[in-house]
Amino acid sequence: MAHGLQIKDEESGYNKNLFCIPKHYEEDLERVFIPHGLILDRTERLARDIMQDMGNNHIVALCVLKGGYKFFADLLDHIKALNQNGDKSVPITVDFVRIKSYCKDTPTEKISIVGELSTLNGKNVLVVEDIIKTGRTMKALLSKLKDNEPKMVKVVSLLIKRTYRSPGYRPDYIGFEIPDKFVVGYALDYNEYFRDLNHICILKERAKEKYKSNVR
Ligand code: HPA
Ligand code: MG
Repeated sequence: MAHGLQIKDEESGYNKNLFCIPKHYEEDLERVFIPHGLILDRTERLARDIMQDMGNNHIVALCVLKGGYKFFADLLDHIKALNQNGDKSVPITVDFVRIKSYCKDTPTEKISIVGELSTLNGKNVLVVEDIIKTGRTMKALLSKLKDNEPKMVKVVSLLIKRTYRSPGYRPDYIGFEIPDKFVVGYALDYNEYFRDLNHICILKERAKEKYKSNVR
C-alpha cells in the first residue's frame, strides 16, 4: 500500500516570516505548512516511483483541474528528466479534466466532470490530483474513466487528508499525508484565491471570511 510522507497532527509548520510570501496574502496566512522546495523534492521521487511501474508503455497523464495543475506540471518535468537521462524512455501525452463539486461536504453533494475521456480507450492512464479528502470525487472520476475502457489506471495525489469520515480510498501514489486542516497554495485554492502562492500554507480563520464566496 502507498504511503506518503507523513505530516503529524501536531505539526504546526513554519513561521511564514522566514519565507517569501506574496504581499497580497501576507496577512491571510497563519503558517507555511509544506515549503515549495519540499513539494518539489517529494515530487521528484514520486516521478521515479511512477516510471518504475508505468515506464514500459506510453503514458497518458490526466490532470484534474484546476487544483492539480502545478503538481501536474512539476511531476511531468521530473518524468521528462528521467526520460531524458535514463536508459529507457516512454512517450507521455497529456489530457485534462475539470471536476466541480456543488454543495460540498453535504449529503446532496453533486459532482460534475467535464472533459473528453473517450480518447483514453486502451491507454495507460495516470490521473494526477492535488488532494484527496473523502475519495468520493476520485471514485466518481474513476467510474467514469472505466466506462472508456483504459488499459490501466493509476492515481497519484500530492496530498491525502487523514479524516475520520474517509471511506478509505487510497491512491496508488501519495505525496504527503496531512492532518484534516484546510490548506491553500501550490494551485490549491480557497474560492479561487491562493493558487498563486508557491508554498502550501494554513489559512487564518479571518481570511476565510475575507475571501468568502458570494455565489452559493
Ligand atoms: N484546500 C483546498 N482545497 C481542498 C482542500 C483543502 O484543504 N480539501 C479539499 N479540497
Ligand atoms: Mg478546490
